[in-house]
Amino acid sequence: MHSNTDTPIRILITGANGQLGREFRELERAYPAFQFTFTGRAELDVTQKVAIKAFFEAQTYDYCINCAAYTAVDKAESEPEAAQLGNVDAVRWLAEACARKGIPLVHYSTDYVYHNQQNTPFQEGDSTAPQSVYARTKLAGEQAAQAANPQTLILRTSWVYASFGHNFVKTMLRLGRERDELKVVFDQVGTPTYARGLAHATLQMIRKVEQGEVARDRLQGIYHYSDEGVCSWYDFALAIFELAGIECKVWPIETKDFPTAAARPPYSVLNKGKIKAVFGLELLHWREGLREMMAR
Ligand SMILES: NC(=O)c1ccc[n+]([C@@H]2O[C@H](COP(=O)([O-])OP(=O)(O)OC[C@H]3O[C@@H](n4cnc5c(N)ncnc54)[C@H](OP(=O)(O)O)[C@@H]3O)[C@@H](O)[C@H]2O)c1
Repeated sequence: MHSNTDTPIRILITGANGQLGREFRELERAYPAFQFTFTGRAELDVTQKVAIKAFFEAQTYDYCINCAAYTAVDKAESEPEAAQLGNVDAVRWLAEACARKGIPLVHYSTDYVYHNQQNTPFQEGDSTAPQSVYARTKLAGEQAAQAANPQTLILRTSWVYASFGHNFVKTMLRLGRERDELKVVFDQVGTPTYARGLAHATLQMIRKVEQGEVARDRLQGIYHYSDEGVCSWYDFALAIFELAGIECKVWPIETKDFPTAAARPPYSVLNKGKIKAVFGLELLHWREGLREMMAR
């Protein structure tokens, strides 16, 4: 726990070279009260238990925000051990290290833990039904972290994109310039999330707790975070081309006509009522997030 308001709040970011991690780097200057330490795989490989232990013994932090994960959703089907190591074991070891120091772990999970017939926005207490190796390991990682450290905050998010790394927006921009037409599934519905907004929201949550606006014990448990609104991947592709001024015909197709190794949920819209009520966050509509990202 951080008690002296004059000293900076020390935040360790792991997996800092991914989409989300790099957004935290971009926000560093906007949060002068926070002192960040950014670690990628080279500085701290979170699948090395001994390295985590040594790292946490050598330095002191007030928070650890874990952006590292095994995120290759389809590849995970053929390498479940690697997914287990990155999404479960690593998260448990980080949570244990945080628990030894008495500090919170902030961790991210996925809308893919919800994969059933429900077609109204999921709430945090709704039952989970992961149906891929990736989703199962992400859920197991949540549980491992919570068991190891009660001060664990899980943000379940969806369809994350950024101007960094690999994501649907960048793939569409590339394909849209290369081709005259594309087929995109219209029977998977969810909400895109601009990683910049997710990073911002995370830091605002910490800031509100540090400033005493929100009770410290609210910074634990599961919260949903995505941008506002709802769309299919087809609608998302149309919006990307419209904003980028790319002329590429998009055809809506069904998931059965675009087989992937890992099954995706047909509907995974997240209800964000809890995070808005507890932390007073205002969320952008996904089109606004997309516009912001494209402007950059
Ligand atoms: N992207 C989405 O659509 C989405 C949706 C819902 C939830 N999430 C969750 O959101 C979080 C952030 O995802 P993201 O989109 O930022 O993923 P990302 O771009 O794939 O970044 C993940 C980062 O983790 C790093 N990493 C992997 N294994 C590591 C290890 N052993 N030690 C240290 N770093 C390691 C990766 O480094 P390397 O490049 O070296 O592997 C990469 O930089 C993850 O928990 C993810 O599951 C993502």
